[in-house]
Amino acid sequence: MNNLNQEITMIAAVEKENGLGLDNKLVWHIPRDLKHFKDLTLGHCIIMGRKTFESLPKALPNRKNIVLSRRKNIAYNDAVVVDSIEKAIEETKNDSKPYIVGGGEIYKLFMNYSTYIELTIIHHKFKSDTFFPKINLKKWEVIKRLDIKKSKKEKYNYSFLTYKKKS
Ligand SMILES: NC(=O)c1ccc[n+]([C@@H]2O[C@H](COP(=O)([O-])OP(=O)(O)OC[C@H]3O[C@@H](n4cnc5c(N)ncnc54)[C@H](OP(=O)(O)O)[C@@H]3O)[C@@H](O)[C@H]2O)c1
Repeated sequence: MNNLNQEITMIAAVEKENGLGLDNKLVWHIPRDLKHFKDLTLGHCIIMGRKTFESLPKALPNRKNIVLSRRKNIAYNDAVVVDSIEKAIEETKNDSKPYIVGGGEIYKLFMNYSTYIELTIIHHKFKSDTFFPKINLKKWEVIKRLDIKKSKKEKYNYSFLTYKKKS
């Protein structure tokens, strides 16, 4: 919890070697994971990097979209643009559980500010050019895990993990 009484939570899906995406795109399609992302983030503030925002068709609805960029004169009609972590967090001050939704650069920036990580691990190799930062198990512990088995309905084996920062 930070001094705004917030639990900042990073949420990401990675392949087996921590890859997040390739050519500014996601490389898998897992409907249940998209639902998981939506269920958790709906109604909350979401913070993302400019590259992730531009990879989306539009801002994610029913969430305050906050975009980090160092570019001057950049503006979107469906998102707030900020140029520092502090300003991004300030934009979320009325939300007790803001989510960090990527990509690689932004996860790295928020590692020290976050209390939880909601990580979906797909147990399959996908070519990637962007990676989730290494999670230091001296600082983080897994408090919840759900394994999903490959089946007629599910194309891959994958797991939903919740990490909490050790106090
Ligand atoms: N699998 C997942 O869960 C997931 C989730 C999200 C994204 N992704 C993937 O991740 C990839 C994109 O990640 P990325 O690392 O390339 O880019 P990113 O983190 O989305 O955005 C990077 C941009 O953020 C801005 N930025 C970074 N640090 C900043 C700071 N300290 N202050 C202000 N602005 C800052 C810069 O924007 P400017 O260049 O405008 O200055 C920088 O170019 C894509 O492939 C996407 O599909 C995957």
